[in-house]
Amino acid sequence: MPLFELDDHLPADFRSSALRADVRAGLTAAPKVLPPKWFYDERGSELFERITELPEYYPTRAERAILTERASEIAALTRAVTLVELGAGSATKTRLLLSALREEGTLRRYVPVDVSAAMLAETGRALSREYAGLSVHAVAADFEHHLEHLPRGGRGLTAFLGGTIGNFEPADRARFLAAVRESVAAGDWLLLGTDLVKDPSVLVPAYDDAAGITADFNRNVLYVINQELKADFDPASFEHVAVWDRDREWIEMRLTARQAHEVRLAELDLTVTFEAGEHLRTEISAKFRQDGVREELAAAGFTLVEWWTDRDRQFAVSLSRAVPAGGGSIRSTAMAGRV
Ligand code: AVJ
Repeated sequence: MPLFELDDHLPADFRSSALRADVRAGLTAAPKVLPPKWFYDERGSELFERITELPEYYPTRAERAILTERASEIAALTRAVTLVELGAGSATKTRLLLSALREEGTLRRYVPVDVSAAMLAETGRALSREYAGLSVHAVAADFEHHLEHLPRGGRGLTAFLGGTIGNFEPADRARFLAAVRESVAAGDWLLLGTDLVKDPSVLVPAYDDAAGITADFNRNVLYVINQELKADFDPASFEHVAVWDRDREWIEMRLTARQAHEVRLAELDLTVTFEAGEHLRTEISAKFRQDGVREELAAAGFTLVEWWTDRDRQFAVSLSRAVPAGGGSIRSTAMAGRV
């Protein structure tokens, strides 16, 4: 008997009202900026899937290699009863964790969290059929805002994979990690995927591939805005640019106006002017070092317990544990910092 339920915490107009607010704020700011979450309509999600298969884009393969190697260790260490997954994980990664936790015999509940209710319904139902007896409790929510609504129960493992944490600016990242800590119990686990700092000769092509798929993905946000906000962006008027910011250690994706022009956004009753060469920042993708991750986790109330990388040390998956709010110690499983 498949056990599937879907809680929808998003107001019916979430997509359009959040998009309107983000676009108005971002296109009237200087410099102009858009949040990366609006890349992912159906076409954008397909383009991202193609990115993950590109020779230049190593993060997905590196993370999958780590999880393949470590899934049973993760299961044995955490003995999780509830697996919460923030963001649309690829089903491959999810299955690695679900299978290992089922083998360990502890897992009862899987809680995928995503803004796309349609995607949750499709993959959630499939997984509840595949894993007999597993209760899949999907939650449609924006994990930047609605973490308090997540069903919990038993030892929890929260997974946030793919390196998506790198899309947050440092202050938002700190707020997000603190909110995750607040939403879980002391002793619960966090599995975090982080891309690592490396030579720009590897980083930049990963965000500016020879086949131009990332360029199409970047420009897709303009099609999304055209469609949802009756705007008249001409995507061909923008050049895809990926730059490595060596001080802030992040990749910045931009759309740079090829010539001066105006864009009309009818739904917002807004006209936006671009100078020739003006940038619109569409994404940051921060890259990390072990010390930085350890410190950021500690500041949020997590102790780093394991740090796993792939063979080429391109990507890291870390496992950390929520410390008690008062700073006391965690009973049960002995878990001194081994890193
Ligand atoms: C899905 C956010 C992890 O930052 O590497 C891929 C998105 N952007 N190529 C990343 C992305 C351009 C990706 N994340």
